[in-house]
Amino acid sequence: MSDNWTQLLRPSLLNLKPFSSAAMARLSLQTNSRPWIFLESNENPNVYGEEAYNRYPEPQPREVVARLGELYSVPVDQILLTRGSAEGLDLIIRLVCEPYKDEILTLWPDFELIEQLACIQGCSLKKVILKKENGFRLSMDEVNNMAEKNIKLVYLSSPNNPTGQQLHKDMIVSICEKYRNKAVVVIDEAYVEYAEQESISSLLQDFEHLLILRTLSKAYGLAGIRCGAVLSSPEIITYLQAMLHPAPIPQPTADIVVKVLSKDKIATIHQAINDMIEQRNELGNRLINFNFVRRVFKSEGNFILLEVEQVEQLMAFCYAEKILIRDKSTQHALEDCVRITIGSESENARLLQVFKQFQLSIPS
Ligand SMILES: Cc1ncc(COP(=O)(O)O)c(C=O)c1O
Repeated sequence: MSDNWTQLLRPSLLNLKPFSSAAMARLSLQTNSRPWIFLESNENPNVYGEEAYNRYPEPQPREVVARLGELYSVPVDQILLTRGSAEGLDLIIRLVCEPYKDEILTLWPDFELIEQLACIQGCSLKKVILKKENGFRLSMDEVNNMAEKNIKLVYLSSPNNPTGQQLHKDMIVSICEKYRNKAVVVIDEAYVEYAEQESISSLLQDFEHLLILRTLSKAYGLAGIRCGAVLSSPEIITYLQAMLHPAPIPQPTADIVVKVLSKDKIATIHQAINDMIEQRNELGNRLINFNFVRRVFKSEGNFILLEVEQVEQLMAFCYAEKILIRDKSTQHALEDCVRITIGSESENARLLQVFKQFQLSIPS
């Protein structure tokens, strides 16, 4: 265990108290036949829609936390619900990084949002550049040479967006050991449900300065309701909770999570995840056969990164056929690369058709 990890947090936030929530106070009220009258939170007693949404929701809806605890195999006091994992990352940066002083280390390519969040917090980003020639794999030498001075937070998506590479658990252990008492380590597992190696959540027992981001936006198909989670030690979760908006999880979001992720539906979702993995692998095998595709990078996510010839023409061709794929070619280390999300079976078939037409359109 890291013995002195609170020194990694911003001192000005150590005594922050959570906003006092009426919904929380109501949870401890004794109920009997006489109902309570709620006149303490300036809510409206009227319900105008079909469902009652006139009361403030619980800040951390217990049913949702319990369900995610089961899904992620983590105790409930190690979970913080957030509006998507993007909010979780933002909170962690603000809990840890002093503006104009601390730095954030990441791999590059990695999830671009980290650049924006670091900039907003006034922190510079140190990038370890991964090489296309090595399939964007991080080596142990690169880990050993990672900067330590001024680094307060290490952010790594695993599987990585956009390369699709998953970091081996042993490598994450080495990174956690290297930064013990120096920086917090954030592993963003937005795509882990599609990966070969399961979540590294068991490492939370060994490293108090480790934080894991999870989301319902990808494998669970709930991007529109904005729900994600930070997993960490109970103490770090308490500090993060104090920073949260007073009622971050809207009641409809909580209701939908409980309904969609109910025990009787989960087997169907897991089957759909397995189907998606098969389709990803199948699509990768088909894409490499096009003459203009130079390389297909092995992916552990619900997307595939490709290196192609004539990237601009390909983008325009797909656009004209009303297919949007992501041009990554202007991002450092990703020259000539595009990222394609795995769609439904018919969408993937249409993509292959359009790629075929594009190939035929290239003068030989
Ligand atoms: C690596 C990674 N983390 C986090 C997110 C954001 O997820 P959420 O919808 O939970 O905010 C994304 C979205 O594309 C992502 O690729």
